[in-house]
Amino acid sequence: MAFRTLLTALLLLPSLATAGDFFTLKGHGGPIKGIDVSPDGSRILTASFDYSVGLWQGGTPVWLEAHRAAANTVRFVDSEHAVSAGDDYDIYLWDLNTGTGRRLGGHEGKIIALALSPDRRTVASASWDRTIGLWSLAGAPARFLKGHTGGVSDVVFSADGARLYSASADGTIRVWDVSSGAQTRLLLKGWFGVNTLILNEAAGWLAYGGVDGTIRVLEVESGDLIADFTGERSPILAMAADREFTTLAIGDGYGFIKVIDSAKWVVTEDFRATLHGPVWALRFSADGRNIHAGSLDDAMYSWPVASLGEHERMTRGELSFLKDPAEMSNGERQFQRKCSICHALDPDGRRRAGPTLFGIFGRPAGSLVNYSYSPTLRNSDIIWDVGTIDALFDLGPDDFIPGSKMPMQRITKAADREDLIAFLRRATAASGGNR
Ligand code: HEC
Repeated sequence: MAFRTLLTALLLLPSLATAGDFFTLKGHGGPIKGIDVSPDGSRILTASFDYSVGLWQGGTPVWLEAHRAAANTVRFVDSEHAVSAGDDYDIYLWDLNTGTGRRLGGHEGKIIALALSPDRRTVASASWDRTIGLWSLAGAPARFLKGHTGGVSDVVFSADGARLYSASADGTIRVWDVSSGAQTRLLLKGWFGVNTLILNEAAGWLAYGGVDGTIRVLEVESGDLIADFTGERSPILAMAADREFTTLAIGDGYGFIKVIDSAKWVVTEDFRATLHGPVWALRFSADGRNIHAGSLDDAMYSWPVASLGEHERMTRGELSFLKDPAEMSNGERQFQRKCSICHALDPDGRRRAGPTLFGIFGRPAGSLVNYSYSPTLRNSDIIWDVGTIDALFDLGPDDFIPGSKMPMQRITKAADREDLIAFLRRATAASGGNR
């Protein structure tokens, strides 16, 4: 019975994704920050805070692992290749047949978004280092477009690939000539950062979402306002359109997804998608019947556009870092706030960005066989104990073990480190409970 259910799930999933049914993709050990759908609609890619990219065809994912920090964005190049980028400032090109990744290059800051040129030969990257990277998949050297005075948050190519539109924390939307790399237009100059863009050049409009909650649609040619859906909720974090641009979905910091009909420019739904947390990633299925979304939840949710409100919502009520701080000791609070999103405490800890801390006291650094450590940690001769864990967060990982995949983080108060270590001693001990 169980086998049959599994088999049915595996066989049905690709068609489920196009059949207008509700489904979830579970397996990541951290929030989902980016989603893409393959050109033929049969596969989905998810980029996660757990440092990995999931390739889904059916219910079992293939994990694409190389990033040394959260993966923020992922895009199919064609049916056999994809690109991803993240907080490690790096871009990887993946061979989806073998699951292997090659570093395409990198920025000097986090990379937030990627776009493929219409001929699929160039990848554009939006980075917090204030530049836009143009990466040739044919091997030509990378180029960088400079001019933004704030981090770049989104990029999109014109339909003919000749121009690139970019959105930035500097409050502008700029247009660039791809062949010369010159900025040709300042389409918008506002007060607040612009987070996300959708361009429908054929119909002559561009929609954008901002840090302050702005959702506006502009006529590309004139820059005139076509529609304004700005509401109370901010920031606007994600936008998607179906392939014909007939329907837009807009996700915000309060976890709502607004659905807009672009023929009449009216809001058709305002759906509360999460019980906790923002909507970070949105994508339509290839047939436009489903909206895929990523939030704090470790799962990707997919709702049929036609019956959004009739299905389960994303919930992270059980997420430990959302536990009531008043119910915890200082040591546990330190752990929940600063470590739990990446580390489990139990023996077989679920898939996460970092290795489980179960049994950490007395353990040689980098010694778990089922976790893919950085060479630095695997080759170090540190033994984790009260002194070394204290030093790790007194100095910060980047000073204590430079080159590790640990995020930069210091805990400056000695009393906080002491409480954290006391909590970890109890919670990670073989016989101890974890509360
Ligand atoms: C954003 C994710 C992230 C956060 C937050 C984080 N870590 Fe880590 N941690 C990692 C990663 C990734 C590694 C593996 C590093 C490597 O391979 O270089 C790691 C490794 C470790 C190790 C070494 C484990 C081993 O097996 O050698 C310890 C100890 C550790 N972390 C403790 C902590 C504590 C305590 C906190 C909270 C104060 C914390 N980490 C917060 C991601 C994180």
